[in-house]
Amino acid sequence: PNAIAMDRLLPVVNKLHSIFQRCGLADPIDLPQIVVVGSQSSGKSSVLESIVGFDFLPRGSGVVTRSPILIQLNKLKGVQKLTSSDTLSGKKSNPKRWVEFIHAPDKKFVEENEIQAEIVAETERVAGKNKSLSPTALIMKVFSKDVVDLTLIDLPGLTKVPVGDQPPDIEKLVRAMILSYIEKENTIILAVHPANTDLATSDALQMARRVDPHGMRTLGVITKLDLMDAGTNALDMLQSRVIPLRKGYVGVVNRSQADLDKNTTVAESRVAERNFFQSHPVYAPHASKMGSQYLAELLSTMLMEHIRNVIPSTRSKLTSQLSEVRAEVATLGPELSGADDASGTLLHLLTKYASCYADAIDGRPRSP
Ligand code: GDP
Ligand code: NA
Ligand code: MG
Repeated sequence: PNAIAMDRLLPVVNKLHSIFQRCGLADPIDLPQIVVVGSQSSGKSSVLESIVGFDFLPRGSGVVTRSPILIQLNKLKGVQKLTSSDTLSGKKSNPKRWVEFIHAPDKKFVEENEIQAEIVAETERVAGKNKSLSPTALIMKVFSKDVVDLTLIDLPGLTKVPVGDQPPDIEKLVRAMILSYIEKENTIILAVHPANTDLATSDALQMARRVDPHGMRTLGVITKLDLMDAGTNALDMLQSRVIPLRKGYVGVVNRSQADLDKNTTVAESRVAERNFFQSHPVYAPHASKMGSQYLAELLSTMLMEHIRNVIPSTRSKLTSQLSEVRAEVATLGPELSGADDASGTLLHLLTKYASCYADAIDGRPRSP
C-alpha cells in the first residue's frame, strides 16, 4: 500500500516544492507533524504503521514503545541511487525505499525486520532493558519516492502504575513527555482510544483538549472495534455523540497480536479491515467513512488545509520582496536597466519574483 495514501497530497506538495525550487526560494510549506497519543497498548504504534504503510515499529502488549520515535519521511527527488560504499541491510541492492537512523549514520536499512530490531536495540541502549522510558527521541529517516516530507511521532503510552524499573512518578513523566510534543501548534494530534474501554475515561482526549481546546488539530481514532463485546458497537462514539470532537473520529481495526504472530502483512490487514466494516450489521452503511484508508484521507485533507492556510502569508512575503526589488531597481535609474551586471541581476530577480508571485496566487505552474 502507498505510504499514507498521499494520492491527493503528493502532487500538490510536489508542485509547490518545484515552484519554490525553481524560484530559488526557501520552501515555506512546513508540513505539520503527526503525533499519536493514548494509553498503553491502545494501538498507537499500530495506527502509525498503517498510515506509513510498512512494517517496522515494534508493537505488542505491555510497554513496547519506550521513547519518542520520530519518523521523518523524505521524498526522494529524481534518481538518487545508493553508492557501492553504502552499507545496506538485507539483500536488495537497489531498494525503492530505505531507512537511516541518526544514531547509526553509516548504515542504510532496507529489511523491515532489521529496522524493527534496530529500534528495539537502540531503545534498550538508551532506556535500559527493564521497561524504563527515555525522553531522548530515536530519530529515523525514511527515504522513498512515495512519501511527502512529513514527520510522524510515535510516543510511549499514558500509564498510571509503575512497572519494572519505572520510577514512582512515571505518570507525571509520561504526561510531560507527551505534552512537549502535542503543545506545538504545528502538530496534528491523533488521540487513540480502544473501543472496548469507556471513552469518558480517555486520557488521550483529555490531554488533547488541554492543548487544543477547540479541537482544531485533534482527530479521534477508535481502535480495536473487533474486540467489543458481542451485541455492542461504537457508533455513538464514532459519530461524536459520546464526547464531541470537531474533526470527529475514525474507527479502525489493526492487526491483533495473533495476526502479528502469524506475520500478517499491512496489505492483508487492510483487506481484512475493509471486510470487517463492509460485512458488519451496524457499520456497513458507514463503511466508506471507516478504516485506515479513510483515516489517511482525513489526514491528507487536514494537511491540505494547512497548506491552504500558509499560502496567504507566502503570498504577502513574495509581494513585499517584489516591491523591495522594484524599489532597488528604481534607484538605479532607467539608463542603467539592462546595461550592467548589477541591474541585469536585479531585473532577473524581479522577473523571477514576479513569476513566482503569479504562481503562488493562481497556483498554475509556469515554464521558467
Ligand atoms: P501501543 O502500545 O498503543 O503502541 O499499542 P500497539 O500498537 O503496540 O498495540 C498493542 C497490542 O494491541 C498489539 O498486540 C496489537 O496487535 C493489538 N492491537 C492494536 N490495535 C488493534 C485492533 O484494532 N484490534 C486488535 N484485535 N488488536 C489490536
Ligand atoms: Na503496547
Ligand atoms: Mg507503541
